[in-house]
Amino acid sequence: MKQEDIEKLVAAIRDLQCKTAKDIEDARVRFLGKKGEITALFDEFRTLDKDGKREFGRVLNDLKQAAIAKIEELKSNTLDIAAASVAQSEDLTMPGDRMELGSRHPVSIVRQEIVDIFRKFGYDVAEGPELEDDYHVFEALNFPPNHPARDMQDTFFVSAGHPNPLLLRTHTSSVQVRTMEKMTPPIRVICPGRVFRNEAISARAHCIFHQVEGLYIDEGVTFADLKQAILLFAREMFGADSQIRMRPSYFPFTEPSAEVDVSCNICKGKGCNICKGTGWLEILGCGMVDPNVLEASGIDSKKYSGFAFGMGIERIAMLKWQVNDLRHYFENDLRFLREFSTAVEV
Ligand code: DAH
Repeated sequence: MKQEDIEKLVAAIRDLQCKTAKDIEDARVRFLGKKGEITALFDEFRTLDKDGKREFGRVLNDLKQAAIAKIEELKSNTLDIAAASVAQSEDLTMPGDRMELGSRHPVSIVRQEIVDIFRKFGYDVAEGPELEDDYHVFEALNFPPNHPARDMQDTFFVSAGHPNPLLLRTHTSSVQVRTMEKMTPPIRVICPGRVFRNEAISARAHCIFHQVEGLYIDEGVTFADLKQAILLFAREMFGADSQIRMRPSYFPFTEPSAEVDVSCNICKGKGCNICKGTGWLEILGCGMVDPNVLEASGIDSKKYSGFAFGMGIERIAMLKWQVNDLRHYFENDLRFLREFSTAVEV
């Protein structure tokens, strides 16, 4: 019997770690079982002479007691953990986890509303690229070569010094052109999308915003059809008693052109701070498609006529909810977005 063998066992018992009840039982058998390591030492002890017994008696007894105590300690710890986890998983009185649902962005809500209204009138949705060329954003829409909108100050050019430079579209009217190139009349589409302008960001201007373009081309389409389409839209969007008025305006791609106001749905036309006392709110630009625009995209302007209109989605959202700082629509501040939430608790 060697002192150092006993010390090794003392250390092994001290450092013993068990995760499961089976681990503990295995450890007990290893040290204290019939053929266990400590039991074997006791067998050997019996064969020692008197001096040997005196030398090893105490240490062997201490070793055995330490092993028994360690096994008991491990048992109670492991059982505590097991008991605690059972209790936790079965506590049916614990409150459930709250799940917060995301919500749709106000711009998406309004875009969908506009799309739904025009779908009811028989319009399809058309889309075009945000990275466009000068031809589809300006030239085919009858913008004269030196029109200020073509200036670097208003438009984000991606490639310059090219006869047909690439740029970020400044309006969704470019989708009109792409649609006319692809389809033959009758054409009835609306084109929602993101547009970009080189503006300093403020409460009233942003370098990114959203528009919905509308286009209707067929034989015999008149200004009266345009007026009726806009009136029906305004009544669906702002209420059945809404009125519209048209003011003469100018756009290179329409002739004649108009800007449309809707009667203020806050004060019902009496005059308030939202409509600045006028009783009217501007909602969109429109007009009869210029024959040059039809011809540029291969549509016979002697046979067909049509109207187009374009509106800002943020503008409509501002009128709907009176959120008059454009920056709110792009900052994704959760306190703002939650105002439009229809989230439910589950
Ligand atoms: N593209 C115009 C803009 O961005 C809006 C517009 C006006 C579109 C008149 C039209 C239209 O189709 O007929 O300001």
